[in-house]
Amino acid sequence: MKVGIIGSGTMGSGIAQIAATAGCNVLVYDTNTTALENSKTKLDKILTRLVEKGRIDVAEKNRIQANIAYVNQLEALASVELTIEAIVEDLTIKQKVFQELESYQTEDAIIASNTSSLSIASIASALKKPSRVIGIHFFNPAPLMALVEIIPAVQTSEEVKQKVVNIIADWKKVGVLVKDTPGFIVNRVARPFYGESLRIYEEGKADFITIDTALKEIGGFRMGPFELMDFIGNDVNYTVTETVFKSFYYDPRYKPSFTQKRLSEAGYLGRKSGRGFYDYSTEIKPTPA
Ligand code: NAI
Repeated sequence: MKVGIIGSGTMGSGIAQIAATAGCNVLVYDTNTTALENSKTKLDKILTRLVEKGRIDVAEKNRIQANIAYVNQLEALASVELTIEAIVEDLTIKQKVFQELESYQTEDAIIASNTSSLSIASIASALKKPSRVIGIHFFNPAPLMALVEIIPAVQTSEEVKQKVVNIIADWKKVGVLVKDTPGFIVNRVARPFYGESLRIYEEGKADFITIDTALKEIGGFRMGPFELMDFIGNDVNYTVTETVFKSFYYDPRYKPSFTQKRLSEAGYLGRKSGRGFYDYSTEIKPTPA
């Protein structure tokens, strides 16, 4: 099966790895050629580590890499059967890319978005054939996280829904069908986890290291909320909260945080920029920024 990935950042790279591992021919497209190069280098590092750990052999590494090509022309995705988009969380930009993609592809090609919070119905509404659009929401890091939310919009055809359910199962993921509501399941449930942690911090009740430690040591979470926001990206996490807040008619339960907004504006995006709530510029343990 031929698969197209739009966006070679955190999520696009991970989804490309999954599809290539499952034997698909994958084309990864990005407007930014540096992002494409980084994606390729990152995959090589990940697969090399898997070989060193004995999880895959060299032949398997070569097979996965041979299944992926990196392109900077959207038109190159003309003949793919399924495209999964993972670009910036912005409705207008996603709609524009989808419209251009649709102009190159045949009617039966499926177009999916990995959006965390935008309405699939709104994304689909920009297309001539909205029934081909669906949400396929992976979690970070995509190759390791089993869960995938599958979100049919009101316009999505039954055939597209069934095909995607089968593809996700073939890719050895656990697909759950979810209604097209803000934040779907996981990102909605996760909002208070981040939001209340940020409020405790902003009210001066505890610093973020204490909050992270408490949730890991006492709560049993693998990562504390601040570590997790840095891992996801403060820009991405903030935008998702803002979208969910607006979509629920400004329900104060989902109110975004100024602290996180300022970090994003400053370019303190988290791990990917070397600094967020914590400082990742040294190889040693992250320290508070
Ligand atoms: P990212 O910032 O790591 O990567 C986005 C990539 O898209 C960049 O390489 C950028 O050059 C490229 N891009 C931007 N505009 C483009 C355009 N018009 N055409 C082609 N390429 C373009 O972002 P990330 O974190 O991978 O997020 C992507 C999407 O996945 C967002 O919708 C986000 O909400 C969603 N998502 C993110 C998760 C996370 O933990 N980061 C988890 C699940 C979903």
